[in-house]
Amino acid sequence: GQLTRCYHKNVVEHYENPRNVGAFDKSDPTVGTGLVGAPACGDVMKLQIKVDENGFIVDSKFKTFGCGSAIASSSVATEWVKGKSIEEVLTIKNSDIAKHLSLPPVKLHCSMLAEDAIKAAVKDIQAKMKAAAAEKGAKA
Ligand code: FES
Ligand code: FES
Repeated sequence: GQLTRCYHKNVVEHYENPRNVGAFDKSDPTVGTGLVGAPACGDVMKLQIKVDENGFIVDSKFKTFGCGSAIASSSVATEWVKGKSIEEVLTIKNSDIAKHLSLPPVKLHCSMLAEDAIKAAVKDIQAKMKAAAAEKGAKA
């Protein structure tokens, strides 16, 4: 489907050379941050999205303190969210990511971290956008 469209050729690259590693300034009003942990193993993933004024994601970065599958899952997630609206990325499923990376069943929770991190990042940016709109309204 459209959500699984790729911009580069090789899935192995997500393990060997993960994309979009890094961080944006958390206090930037155009940045949404999702920080989630996996109860099963204690691994942690931070995924950030940068949005334009229409709620489209123009860039994404991640930092993952976890296993290789979690790192690869975050790498795929940051690639897939780019260019999409914050509503659209909520439909990205961990099963799509797992399938894309051919993760074995025991590694499904690693891709779940990525789905959860996307959702948390969207929640954060939605709260920021709401606060900004309220402030604008109060000033008007
Ligand atoms: Fe990178 Fe598909 S191979 S997102
Ligand atoms: Fe926990 Fe992969 S083993 S995120």
